[in-house]
Parts: sequence; C-alpha cells; structure tokens
Amino acid sequence: MREKLARIRAEALEQIHGVNADLEQIKIKYLGKKGELTAVLRGMGELSAEERPIIGQLANEIRTDIEEAINEKAQELQERALDCKLKAEKLDVTMPGKPTPVGHLHPLTKVQRELEDIFIGMGFSIAEGPEVELDYYNFQALNIPVNHPARDTQDTFYITDNILLRSQTSPVQVRTMEHQKPPSRIISRGRVYRSDSLESTLPPLFQQLEGLVVDRVMTMGDLKGTLDVFAKKMFGESTKVRFRPHHFPFTEPSAEVDVSCFVCGGRGCRVCKGEGWIEILGAGMVHPFVLSNCGIDPEVYSGFAFGLGIERIAMKKYGIDDIRLFYENDERFLDQF
Ligand code: DAH
Repeated sequence: MREKLARIRAEALEQIHGVNADLEQIKIKYLGKKGELTAVLRGMGELSAEERPIIGQLANEIRTDIEEAINEKAQELQERALDCKLKAEKLDVTMPGKPTPVGHLHPLTKVQRELEDIFIGMGFSIAEGPEVELDYYNFQALNIPVNHPARDTQDTFYITDNILLRSQTSPVQVRTMEHQKPPSRIISRGRVYRSDSLESTLPPLFQQLEGLVVDRVMTMGDLKGTLDVFAKKMFGESTKVRFRPHHFPFTEPSAEVDVSCFVCGGRGCRVCKGEGWIEILGAGMVHPFVLSNCGIDPEVYSGFAFGLGIERIAMKKYGIDDIRLFYENDERFLDQF
C-alpha cells in the first residue's frame, strides 16, 4: 500500500507539473470521490491496527502535497494567462498614428484673403451688403435707370419687380455712402449672380471685390496710385498698370484696367493670349449723380471706385482655363492648391 501511495503521489505530481490547461481533470482523477487516492484509502480496512494510522497519515500528507501542487499550478496557469492577455493587448505608443486628412482653403478663398490683406494694409475696411438686393441699390442709385441698356449686360435674376439677386457688388457702395459720412475707404467682396444661358461656360454666380474711396479731393491720380500699389503687391514689384477708357454708368470718367502679364512680363504668352496685358478690373471716378443719390454733395466730395472678378484673378494666377472648375468641388482639382 505504501508503494501504491508513493506511485500515486509521483504520478500525480508529474501530471500536475506537465499540465497546461486541464487541471480540474487531474484533481478529479486523484482526489475525487472515485479518484485513485480515495480508492486506496477505501482499502485501509484490510490493514492491521498498527499500520492503519501510519498509512492514514501518509495518505493525508500525499493528499496535501497533491492539493498544494494543484493550487500552485492553478496560480501559475492564471498568471500565465494574464501575462498572455497583457502581451496581446499591449499598446505601442511609439507607433505612428493613422494620418487624419486635413482640409485646406478653397483657391477662391485664398485669393480673396490675399486681396483683402492687401487693401486692409492700405487702410481699407470691409463692408458687407445683402445678396438679395433691391433694384434701387443694384441699379437705380448707381445711375442705371429702368430701360438703361447696362441692365441688359447684367442678365439679372429677379425675385420680384423690385427685388433681385445682386448682379454686382457695387450696391454696397451706395449702402456705405448712405450710412457713412466721408471720408470712406471700404472694400466689399462676395457673391454676385447673373443668368447666362445654361450652355454658357459662365457659372450663374461668381465673386467680386469692390473698392470705394470718398474724400474731399479725390482724383484719378489717387485711383491710379492705389491700383498701382495693389497690382505690384498682388502680381509682383515689376508689374505695370494700364488704363483704357471705358464706360460704366456709375463712374465718370471710367476705365478698364490691365496689368502687365505676370507670367511673361509683357512679351506675350498663353496666359495673356499674346497681348502682354491682362485685364483685371473696371474703375473710375464715382459719378456725381451717384454721390448725390447717397446724400453726398459732389461739389464738396469726390471719390473713386473699382470692381474686379475674383475668379478671373485666381484663374490667371493659377493658370486655370475654365471658371466652372471652381464650383464643381472635384477634389482632384481642389487638391492642387
Ligand atoms: N460693377 C462692375 C461690373 O460688375 C465693375 C465695376 C466697374 C465696379 C467700375 C466699379 C467700378 O466700382 O468703378 O462689371
């Protein structure tokens, strides 16, 4: 019986050491009600009275040994499982993160801000006006009465007889002068709307930037000087400015203004279509009628104004040949800026 017990002990301990998962089964095999140790103990009745307590004690020791070994192993397995889990869940905080796509400004917004910065640097402030405008501000007050042919050149979206989507930023001039005693020095930029035919390559909306200066003795020289500084800042120090006589109802005299081509320097290239000059804006001295429409005495005050298309400047600057690209939101286009 001693030998049997010793064998059970040796076997049990060996199995416990070697096991990786099923500890419970070993426990049942040796210590359970139908286990091997229990079976041996059942046979103790056949032992002599002296041997019984000795074997009994031995059996108890073996039971304790096996139990301890099982507990130890259980703990070891638990720790190993925890270790594995920790290893599997380990975070490497030094790994590079997933890149987050960052957007950027629309090319028109970039050009608009560049323009604003230049004029703000020259002492202009920004004025705002509504996009849904009264006919009065968009046309009449600007010396464009009903039936004036200039209305035809700006195919206008009318909402009612009196209300329209502004076709130019010039109405902001009128709104500014109505509310502000001179001197005034403002720019205003934003969307304007024109209803060209659907097949047209022009979008029904585009962006303008308007400038207005009113003071006691403003001259064409002030206008030229202002636009000269602007052109040099926007297109480079060697840029030259050229005025061509033109007509706008709200300015007298009026001019169309060109800058020397900033790509070829005036020699002629694809961007300036061989001309050496690029038309960038309309300008002139504020018409006396417009001043008096706004309650400003043209005998005392004079002013100059100019208006430009932001898309046009952006197209020339970035070499874009179709204005519609700005409004298609195609990322392959936008990503280039
Ligand atoms: N409003 C004109 C247009 O849309 C542009 C313009 C020309 C604005 C001359 C002005 C100006 O202020 O003086 O074509």
